Amino acid sequence: MTYNVRFDIIAAMETLSSFDMILTDRLVLRLFNAADANDVFEFAGDKTDANRFVAWPAHEECADSVRCIRDIYIPNRVFAIEYSGKCIGAIELKSTEEDGVYSIGYILNKKFWNLGFTTEALTALLDVAFRRLKAKSVVAAHAVENKASGRVMEKCGLKVERIALKELELRCGLSDIRHMYIDAEAYFKNQN
Ligand SMILES: CC(C)(COP(=O)(O)OP(=O)(O)OC[C@H]1O[C@@H](n2cnc3c(N)ncnc32)[C@H](O)[C@@H]1OP(=O)(O)O)[C@@H](O)C(=O)NCCC(=O)NCCS
Repeated sequence: MTYNVRFDIIAAMETLSSFDMILTDRLVLRLFNAADANDVFEFAGDKTDANRFVAWPAHEECADSVRCIRDIYIPNRVFAIEYSGKCIGAIELKSTEEDGVYSIGYILNKKFWNLGFTTEALTALLDVAFRRLKAKSVVAAHAVENKASGRVMEKCGLKVERIALKELELRCGLSDIRHMYIDAEAYFKNQN
């Protein structure tokens, strides 16, 4: 399936900070605001196994989600994944210390898993990264055990760079991490 990203309402400047809103077939990727707190608490306050592969602690109360939006999501320009007026997740495209290299991270409310939403959001952000920001490469990483996350990356064309054994302490314990990447050449080749 292909997803068309429409840039008609995106500012023309070629910097990451200029992308305030991205429309895909089903989603709006936009900056967070305080009104998203209840929706953020739904996925960030989820203490079940659903979030066993993340490194940060679950939000205990909605006030934690308010602080997360204010102190992390807004300053870092993390995108809210909005579907049908509801914020169902978060996705981030951020620059790294290496020039032209961006990294990706994401989380989705488990009620909306396996509907292709994260793949659709990542597809859109790769488009932004390579076409608008002229990225050299985009990197991402997931716990080897987190098959769904790895599958999202694979569906978007990312390849394995390396696997680091027992690299990160996640909620589920010390985990092997698969590092993934896609460079501009491979990205544009895949588009043809
Ligand atoms: C990882 C996550 C974002 C995926 O979101 P999603 O919107 O469900 O992803 P998509 O629907 O786009 O794609 C999921 C793919 O994984 C596959 N999948 C799901 N569970 C799987 C499993 N246990 N084993 C193998 N594949 C699995 C799905 O079948 C689908 O692939 P397909 O389209 O080839 O059938 C979501 O599971 C999540 O938020 N997890 C908790 C937070 C997290 O782990 N974040 C990532 C940290 S690296």
